[in-house]
Amino acid sequence: TVCFCFFSSFLLPDTAGKPAIGGPWSLIDLNGNLVTNVSFQGKWLLLYFGFARCPDICPSEMLKIARVIDQLKESNPQLAAKIVPVFVSVDPARDSLSALKEYSKDFHPDFVFLTGSPTQVQEMAKKYRVYVSKAEETEDGDYLVDHSIVVYFHDDEGELADCFTQSMRPKDIVEKIVDRMSAAITVSK
Ligand code: NI
Repeated sequence: TVCFCFFSSFLLPDTAGKPAIGGPWSLIDLNGNLVTNVSFQGKWLLLYFGFARCPDICPSEMLKIARVIDQLKESNPQLAAKIVPVFVSVDPARDSLSALKEYSKDFHPDFVFLTGSPTQVQEMAKKYRVYVSKAEETEDGDYLVDHSIVVYFHDDEGELADCFTQSMRPKDIVEKIVDRMSAAITVSK
């Protein structure tokens, strides 16, 4: 699995002065409901792209996000209450709603699991500059999906606030989240 860190490019604004990452998207949740970027207004998102059959990287990143959530619940419950961790499948061909429902049982109950049509997923991945590449199938039709490993942190207005790479520890991420959210609360007072 490839780890791509575009951190510097995240911070380069496009011509409109906003980071050239993210934007409108629409997907489906585990109950088959349409979910868009607007659905999460008022919440801070921890957005992660992966796939249910990923053998190691995705499970460990998902556990890391779970640790971040639990640490925040302990240290800053009022901030934790505003955060939603979201998993977006980059393997919609195999990550059906029932497959994702099974998968979701292994992870933090706060997680929202999203999938969609291949086009919906591709469009969203493109907006986030997520690298997705299906590896060669084995004889029994199994395959891996190479994908970038980044957690995108969005503020309560849906703007990208920060991003967290694979090498960061839960403690580092918690610190960054607390700093970022505290600063936003101070500004809005
Ligand atoms: Ni993975």
